[in-house]
Amino acid sequence: MGEQILVLDAGTTSTRAMVFDAAGQMLAVAQQELTQHYPQAGWVEHDAAEIWAKTLACAREVVGDTPDRIAAIGITNQRETVVAWDRQTGEPLANAIVWQDRRTAAACAQLKDAGHEDAVQRQTGLLLDPYFSATKMRWLLDNQDAVRSAAERGDLAFGTVESWLVWKLSGGAHVSDASNASRTLLLALDVAQFDPGLCDLFGVPRSALPEVVDTHGALAICASEHLGAAIPICGLVGDQQSATIGQGCLTLGETKATYGTGAFVLTNKGSDIPRSANRLLGTILCQQAGQRIYALEGSCFVAGSLVQYLRDTLGLIGSAAETEALARSIPDSGEVVIVPALAGLGAPHWRPDARGVISGLSFASGRAQIARAALEAMAHQTQDLARAFAADGAPWSRLKIDGGMSANDWMAQDLADVIDLPVERPDFVETTALGAAICAAVGTGLYGSLNDAAQAMRGPAKEFAADMADDVREARLARYARALTAA
Ligand code: G3P
Repeated sequence: MGEQILVLDAGTTSTRAMVFDAAGQMLAVAQQELTQHYPQAGWVEHDAAEIWAKTLACAREVVGDTPDRIAAIGITNQRETVVAWDRQTGEPLANAIVWQDRRTAAACAQLKDAGHEDAVQRQTGLLLDPYFSATKMRWLLDNQDAVRSAAERGDLAFGTVESWLVWKLSGGAHVSDASNASRTLLLALDVAQFDPGLCDLFGVPRSALPEVVDTHGALAICASEHLGAAIPICGLVGDQQSATIGQGCLTLGETKATYGTGAFVLTNKGSDIPRSANRLLGTILCQQAGQRIYALEGSCFVAGSLVQYLRDTLGLIGSAAETEALARSIPDSGEVVIVPALAGLGAPHWRPDARGVISGLSFASGRAQIARAALEAMAHQTQDLARAFAADGAPWSRLKIDGGMSANDWMAQDLADVIDLPVERPDFVETTALGAAICAAVGTGLYGSLNDAAQAMRGPAKEFAADMADDVREARLARYARALTAA
C-alpha cells in the first residue's frame, strides 16, 4: 500500500486532480475547465455529467497505471451546488443549480416574510438566501418534471457535488460530509443527520437526501473499475473548510480568507456552536467520529470573478496578472470605487437584489484606475467582514490568505494595509487541495490528527505587514461605504 493521496478538487470553474505525498509535496496535477451555463440573468448551472467525466479523466491522468501508490482519496468541492440524480440509472435528472444562482430569491423572501429566518438561523447557522441548497432542491422538484417523477417513484437522490462524486466513484454510496451538509439549510449544527422539520419547511423529501458522515475517516470506497484499484475515500470536505484546514487554522480564532471565484473568510470556533448577531454564518469546519469543530464564516460572492469580468466581458485587461502592474502604475484609484455586487451581496449585507457599482468616474479614470479599484474592492469587502467578526466577538489577529487572486502581491499588501493586520500567504497557495489531502491522510491513518498532518504537510509562508496612514485608510473606507449605498 502506498502513502500518496489523490485529491479531487471539483471547483466552480474547473475540476482538478492532484497527487500529494505524505509530506505535502504536490507530485502531479491535471485540470479541466467546466462549462458555465447562464440560461437567464441570475441563473447559473453546471452539467453534473460533465463534472463527473472531467473529474474522472483528471484522476486517471494523475494516477496513471500505478494506483497502488495511492493510500486514499480526498475530495473537496464547490459547496451548496445541488445535483439531482436517479438512483436506478445513476444519471443526472437536470442541470445542477450552482451556489451563485439567485433564482430562489423570491422563495427565500417569502420564507423570511413568514418569519422563519430567526429559527432557521438558530438551528442551521445560515440565513434565508438563495445561496444555500434547500430552496434550489425545492425549485428542481417544482420545475423539473424528471426530478418530480423520480421523487414520486422513490428514485430521487439529491446531493452536493462531493455526494454526487462519491455516488459515481463508489457505485451507489449516498453520503454527504458534515461540512457540506451544513450548507444546505437542512442540517442543524448540533444534530448528526438532516432535520425532518427543516425538510418539511423547505419541502425537500428526507428520503432523497444522503446520510451525513464525517469529513475524515473510512467514508466510502472508489470501485476498482475507475482507477485500476479499489481505493478508500478518506476525506470529504467543502472547499472553504478545506482551505481553512490547509492553512492550518486548527485552533480557536485562527482565520483564513480565500480569494477564488468568491471570497470566503472562516474563523475557527472550536467546539462552540457559532452564533452571529452580525449576519455571519455558523458552519461545520470538520467532523471526526461524530465530534464537530465549527467555524464562523463571511461569504462574499464575487472576488476573482470580478477580474474575470473586466477581462472577458468588458475587455479592459488582457490577463488577470495585468491588474498588478496597472494598480502599481498609479498612486491611487483617483477616487474610483467598485462595489462587486454582480451576483448580489453576501455577508454581512445579504441583499440578493443588489447590483455592482463603479462610482467616482471622471475623464481621468482609465483602465488603471478601474483595475486598481477592482483589487481595492477585495480589501474593502474583507474589512466589512472584519468589522462583523469583531462585533461577533471573533476579532482577527492576522489573516492567512490563499486562492488564485492572493498570488497578486499588490492585492496582498493592500489587504494588510486596509485591515491593518499582518497578512500571511503560504508559498504553496493550493491550500484547498492541501486541506483535502490532510483530511484524507488523517482519515487513512497516515497521521493521528489534523494538527499533526498540517504540521507535516504545510510549507513556508510570506508575511505582508500593514503600512498605511490611518487617514488614507479611513478615506478609502468612507468612499466604499458611500458607494455601497448605491448597490
Ligand atoms: O460556497 C461556494 C464556494 O464553495 C465556492 O468556492 O472556490 O469556487 O470560489 P470557489
